[in-house]
Amino acid sequence: MKGLVLSGGKGTRLRPITYTSAKQLVPVANKPVLFRVIEAIRDAGIEEIGIVIGDTGEEIRAAVGNGRRWGVRTVFIEQPEPLGLAHAVKISRDFLGDDRFVMFLGDNCIQGGISPLIQQFSHSDYNAQIVLKQVNDPRQFGVAELDDDRRIVRLVEKPREPRSNLALVGIYMFDAHVWEAVESIRPSARGELEITDAISWLVNNHYRVFPYIHEGWWIDTGKKDDMLEANRLVLEELEPAIHGYVSRDSQLIGRVIIESGAEVINSTIRGPAIIGEHSRILNSYIGPFTSIYHHCLVEESEVEHSIVLEHSSIRDLPHRLEDSLIGRNVEIIRSPLRPKAYRMMLGDNSSVGVL
Ligand code: DAU
Repeated sequence: MKGLVLSGGKGTRLRPITYTSAKQLVPVANKPVLFRVIEAIRDAGIEEIGIVIGDTGEEIRAAVGNGRRWGVRTVFIEQPEPLGLAHAVKISRDFLGDDRFVMFLGDNCIQGGISPLIQQFSHSDYNAQIVLKQVNDPRQFGVAELDDDRRIVRLVEKPREPRSNLALVGIYMFDAHVWEAVESIRPSARGELEITDAISWLVNNHYRVFPYIHEGWWIDTGKKDDMLEANRLVLEELEPAIHGYVSRDSQLIGRVIIESGAEVINSTIRGPAIIGEHSRILNSYIGPFTSIYHHCLVEESEVEHSIVLEHSSIRDLPHRLEDSLIGRNVEIIRSPLRPKAYRMMLGDNSSVGVL
C-alpha cells in the first residue's frame, strides 16, 4: 500500500498564523501535525508517501525533506489550486498507480494511529474504507448515515441538518476503483471536487465501502481552539523526560518534558507541558497543557493552556497568558513607556483579549 497526505489548501481558519506558513506545520506538543501524520502512516508499515502541496509547498518540502528521518520515501505532488480533496487524489494518479492506498488529511490528529485500520483494509476485499467518529456538531464535517446493519446509506458534505452524528474523519482507504469515482463527480456548491461525493459514487454503484467507527479521540486542527485541544490530548499521553537543564530552585510537577538545550531557572512547570529545545524559562510559571516550542524565552511571566511557536518571547507580563496560540518570532512584553498604553503590531485577523 501507499500513503497520500494532503497538505495543500488555504488554511484560512488559522489566520494570521497561516498567512506565512502551512497550517499542517503548526506543532502539537512540539511536533508538527503533519509529522504526526507521516509517523502514523509509517507505523502502519507503509514506506512510500506522496504529499500533496499547494501555496505553502516550499515550506513543507523544506520541513519534510526526503522522509529518510522517518525511514520512508516521500514524493511531493503539486496541486496548482486547492480544488478539493478528490482533485488532490486525481492529480496523484501517476504516483499511486493502481495500488491500494490510504489518504490522510495533513491537519488531522488521531489517537492510537492507523495500524489496525490498514491491517484490516489490506487483507480485505473492500474497495474503500472510511473512518467515522461520533461528534457533537457534525455540520462542519462530511456526515455518514448508516443503516441498522452498519452499512452506509448516504454521505453528505457539511450538511445544514445532519441526519447522524457520525463525522467523516480525514482518513480514507481506496483501491483502483477510486479513479472511476473521481472522474465521475462534478464540483460541489463550494466549487470543490469532494472526496465525500467520490465515496458516495462508490456506494451508489454498489462497490464495497466499509465504515470503521473510531473510538479514541480525533481532532481536525483547523482552528485555534482545536489546536489547543489536540495539544492537551497529546500532552496527556507523553512520557515525562528531562533532556535539558533544570535549576535546583525550580519545580517540575507531573508530566513534564524538557527538551535538549532548554533551561528552566527558578520556575515552576506544572504538567502536562513541554519546553522545547533551547528555550529558557526564567522566574516563571508554566501551567498545564502548554507547549513552548524551540528557542523561546518566558521570563517573569505565567503561561497556561497555550501553544507558543518558535523564537517567541514573553516577558514581565502582569497577568497570566491563557488559552492562546502565539505565532513565530512574537514578542509580548510589559512596556515601561509612558503614557501607559497597549502598543501592538498584530497581523490581519489577529484576536487579542485585554484586561
Ligand atoms: O477533517 C475531516 C473533514 O475534512 C471531513 O469531515 C470532510 O468530509 C472533508 O471534506 C474535509 O473537510 P475540511 O473542509 O475540513 O477540509 P479542508 O479544506 O480543511 O482540507 C483538509 C486538508 O486537505 C488540509 O490539510 C488541506 C488539504 N487540501 C484541501 C483541499 C481543499 C489539499 O491538499 N487540497 C485541496 O484542494
